[in-house]
Amino acid sequence: MNVARSSQPGTSRGRAAQYHRRMDIFRVGGNARLEGEVTVSGAKNSVLKLMAATLLTPGTTTINRAPDILDVSIMSEVLRRLGCQVRFSGGTLTIAVPEDPSTETDYQLVRRMRASIAVLGPLVARWGHAKVALPGGDAIGSRGLDMHVAGLVQLGAQVHSEHGFLIARADRLHGATIRLDFPSVGATENILMAAVLAEGRTVIDNTAREPEIIDLVQFLNKMGAQIEGEGTPTLVVDGVSQLKPVEHDTVPDRIVAGTWAMAAVMTRGDVTVRGATAAHLERVLDLLGASGAMIDTHLTDGRGFRVRMNDRPKSIDVRTLPYPGFPTDLQPMAIALDSIAQGSSIVTENVFEGRFMFTNELIRLGASIQVDGHHAAIRGTERLSSAPVEATDIRAGAGLVLAGLVADGFTDVAHVHHIDRGYPGFEQQLSALGADVRRIHAPDEDYFGPPST
Ligand code: EPU
Repeated sequence: MNVARSSQPGTSRGRAAQYHRRMDIFRVGGNARLEGEVTVSGAKNSVLKLMAATLLTPGTTTINRAPDILDVSIMSEVLRRLGCQVRFSGGTLTIAVPEDPSTETDYQLVRRMRASIAVLGPLVARWGHAKVALPGGDAIGSRGLDMHVAGLVQLGAQVHSEHGFLIARADRLHGATIRLDFPSVGATENILMAAVLAEGRTVIDNTAREPEIIDLVQFLNKMGAQIEGEGTPTLVVDGVSQLKPVEHDTVPDRIVAGTWAMAAVMTRGDVTVRGATAAHLERVLDLLGASGAMIDTHLTDGRGFRVRMNDRPKSIDVRTLPYPGFPTDLQPMAIALDSIAQGSSIVTENVFEGRFMFTNELIRLGASIQVDGHHAAIRGTERLSSAPVEATDIRAGAGLVLAGLVADGFTDVAHVHHIDRGYPGFEQQLSALGADVRRIHAPDEDYFGPPST
């Protein structure tokens, strides 16, 4: 089935197809100062897994505060092809899972969104079979699946790859003690979603502790799972024989919230980020404070924070680490900030080996960056200089838009379908904060940038 042809205009399904066809561009006006209020929706990296977890039981589950982003449309399509009915309206997803769904997910969808792999655990746990296309590498590194597979094998599944698919089978999974070599977000989630229906007790050690994992644990426990240890590196799961559909509010998107905080600092602005949980950004907000920002986390309604900046930011040294460390997903924005900061800095990437690729684009904007292995040395320059650049992934795209806001003239950021994957209405939200950002529907890949006049 062709996604574009099956899509309805005006629905999120229709939007997914439109975005996919167009090589849209953001034309970003420089010398910007962001001021005002912005509200964040639920986290992309939580909602996609909650959607996959609905497969663990027949019936209709409701997920509130879902972001209107391309990745939610793609995951909706993954679930539809498995036989589910998915509706998305006003931030609420309703997912009806049939008694007897399909267990196969094809390459066309998985290659567009790697998180599709999250259906592997639920499918094998509930139906004893899953056939999911292998995602392959992507623009931020090789991103293996060895820990996902090893965990499922320890739970009793037989897993092999064939013709580009990962195929997992099991009569009934059984509990096991599993230690992850690295606190992988995706492996923790897949193993957890499989273990909730396994027979007996599973102990998963050295798990990821991101707020999105806690959200998934709470969602699964609401469904009737028995998981203890949320927020710690050890999760203990007592398997149950069945689960029930539920209603749940997605955890706020800390990466989108952090992007607004960085944008406020870079543009010497004053932005109140509503609906966010400041505690999920402790390390980031501390560093922004060290760069000279004034940060207020005690807003009267208790949800969100305000970031104000009067001067040129001071440079910050950043080391990305699993939560509660500095998130790799905000590393491109940190480099963009350091590019215009006073002083020099070192940014160390410890999670994805390919995540410095986008620095070549930032250098085109006049940034002074030297990459050596997993370190980047940045010398701040007062103002960047506009040029056409390309987004290579969601976060690199957002980092380039932020850089464009503090360049002189207009910066065209191409391939914004990457940004559409994770930032709901990015250009509208930026405009509401006073930026001059327009989406240009580029005719095709031969677009050569803005006119020189
Ligand atoms: N890894 C392995 N083997 C595995 C699993 C992971 O080697 O079996 C490696 C990866 O190659 C990577 C590292 O471990 O170098 C971390 O990977 P992890 O599994 O933690 O990340 P992920 O689940 O693939 C999620 C988010 C990413 C986010 C990372 C880290 C989703 C859909 N994606 O990816 O988000 O950067 O966790 O926090 O949840 C983004 O939103 O832009 C994004 C890339």
